Amino acid sequence: MLRYLTSGESHGQSLISILDGIPSNIELNIDEINHELSKRQGGYGRGGRMKIEKDKVNLLGGVRGKVTLGGPISIEIKNKDYGNWTRYMAPMENVDFETKKVSNVRPGHADLVGCLKYDFEDARNVLERSSARETASRVAVGAICKQVLKNFEIDFASHVIQIGSSKDNNLYEFEYIKNKVEDSEVRCVNKDLEKEIIKEIDKVKKEGDTLGGIVEIRVKNLIPGLGSYTQFDKKIDAELAMHLMSIQAIKGVEIGIGFEVAKSPGSLVMDEIYYNEENGIKRSTNRLGGIEGGMTTGEEIIIRCAMKPIPTLYKPLNSIDVNSLESYQASIERSDNCAVPACSVVCENVVAFVVCKYFLDKIGGDNLEDLKTNYNSYLKRLGDRGWKR
Ligand SMILES: Cc1cc2nc3c(=O)[nH]c(=O)nc-3n(C[C@H](O)[C@H](O)[C@H](O)COP(=O)(O)O)c2cc1C
Repeated sequence: MLRYLTSGESHGQSLISILDGIPSNIELNIDEINHELSKRQGGYGRGGRMKIEKDKVNLLGGVRGKVTLGGPISIEIKNKDYGNWTRYMAPMENVDFETKKVSNVRPGHADLVGCLKYDFEDARNVLERSSARETASRVAVGAICKQVLKNFEIDFASHVIQIGSSKDNNLYEFEYIKNKVEDSEVRCVNKDLEKEIIKEIDKVKKEGDTLGGIVEIRVKNLIPGLGSYTQFDKKIDAELAMHLMSIQAIKGVEIGIGFEVAKSPGSLVMDEIYYNEENGIKRSTNRLGGIEGGMTTGEEIIIRCAMKPIPTLYKPLNSIDVNSLESYQASIERSDNCAVPACSVVCENVVAFVVCKYFLDKIGGDNLEDLKTNYNSYLKRLGDRGWKR
């Protein structure tokens, strides 16, 4: 079973993750992993920290000569700012607990409940771990998963379809998104919308406020049958939703037309099924986003996630001091003004992990050759039943 854990604080020495279950003999390209990390750091509306960080992975185990060994892969991402934070954050030295103490807890963050639950007087002990800095680890994990799936031509794309009130209702071709998205500083493939979005971000920034939005993730070249209807915890849509909802600030996940299903008649929701010699079993539409009964249908997966506005406001909200209980304005930790573009990169890589997990579960194999053999035999059997890629 593919699994991973992450560890590390936002201003600690490093972020560490261990990814267990990647088969052997997969060639890894470190530049591609670092490229994903740099996409996460970009995007209009991000704060000063992104200029300090230039994330790079350091693989500490599970890989030899650029090829996976089949054991757990340990991934380190150093925090470049640690030099300035050693005296506050060092794990095994006497540190200065006062200078960076946070007691004016920020609404919308883990600060208040974290202090109550773990019995801290300093929300720094909470925010260092609850911070979305952790998503760098998840991007690195997903980037490795993408490299496994590349061997089977499974490909991923993501883009921003809404920030604040500026929204795009078009459904673009996968290749169009893939080719255009990196030209945009807000990861938006619609140039008119991009301008509106930038204006909107600038406006709220001046007001000391923040914005959220919606990102769309697409997965192409899938096979039918990843996931299963036979048990609740084997359904791929359920697992995708769980992993995506666990990303800091994600408040909604929809698959295909999502919430639209509630107001549409069945004839405008289901994807009718056709067969012809040339193309095999096909759908005329993909409203259900490539998943039926907890299983991939082989059509593109289409997922949208709603991100709430960044909770740290430069126009701070009313809150309390968690120790004196007096009213105060919430603390300001150096912060983004809008992180929706970065969030789309995080979501894409989180989806890559889940798809890879289900792919490995279905196809099975300790090494790349076994995976290819099993994959081809499954494709052949599907072909005999009328399904063509
Ligand atoms: C890529 C990304 C960057 C983020 N950057 C910030 C930030 O700079 N400042 C901030 O207050 N919250 C930021 N957040 C959101 C918070 O981490 C998140 O709202 C908080 O941890 C509480 O979690 P919850 O919103 O899931 O309840 C970011 C989230 C993501 C996904």
